[in-house]
Amino acid sequence: MICFNNVGLTYEDRNVLTEITCELNEPRVGIIGANGSGKSSLLRLINGLTTPTTGTVTVGGLDPTDHGRDVRSRVSFLFSNPDAQIVMPTVGEDIEFSLRRNKISALERHERISQALALVGLSDYQEHPAHLLSSGQKQLLAMAAIMVTEPDILLCDEPTTLLDRRNTRVLIDIIDALPQQIIMATHDLDLVSQWPRVLVMEHGEIIADSSGHEAVATYKATVDR
Ligand SMILES: Nc1ncnc2c1ncn2[C@@H]1O[C@H](COP(=O)(O)OP(=O)(O)OP(=O)(O)O)[C@@H](O)[C@H]1O
Ligand SMILES: [Mg+2]
Repeated sequence: MICFNNVGLTYEDRNVLTEITCELNEPRVGIIGANGSGKSSLLRLINGLTTPTTGTVTVGGLDPTDHGRDVRSRVSFLFSNPDAQIVMPTVGEDIEFSLRRNKISALERHERISQALALVGLSDYQEHPAHLLSSGQKQLLAMAAIMVTEPDILLCDEPTTLLDRRNTRVLIDIIDALPQQIIMATHDLDLVSQWPRVLVMEHGEIIADSSGHEAVATYKATVDR
């Protein structure tokens, strides 16, 4: 369970997040809102990439600030730009790199890499140079490199921004089928309009917390007013 208790985040004198109090228990939670409204900052607090200025965040009872490594072993982050996540020369090596801290046999390592590649449809690319993949394929590789570690929670920050319609569909179908809890910030309102819970952020506050359908209507109304 992810708990925000009266969380504030300030950079220099600027309030980025104000009085965020909520529990995120649902299998799918969307976050929408204008540029700069605080969506990415909220996500980064969940896995300890950012520390709150006031208040507390806990994930499964652990404070990510004090237990960063523990939390990040269970909570993974998919960024919109896959180049930020790809670190090794070939597709197979990049996925293997994610398993560097797992004490597993060579056979299990090999099987988990194969399964992760199959999950995203990149089985034929294991020896392929990672930097020569298309943007969409890179995002799928980043997804595979995360899923191979079997996290409990997946934080997605605009994961489809660089993708064409087809790869957006591919990635969303993968996300839809995952058993993990997924918290996703996005500007693609169609992606979350059917989700049961979507937060709307404005100027660092949660101004709506409702069904996707209602949240999208609320966000559109803020744009129109
Ligand atoms: N490390 C930082 N230092 C200073 N300001 C920051 C930092 N990180 C975020 N901010 C500020 O916090 C505010 C919220 O940024 P954030 O990235 O959370 O917004 P967002 O809702 O994800 O926007 P977008 O839709 O453009 O991705 C912005 O004004 C941004 O400039
Ligand atoms: Mg953002």
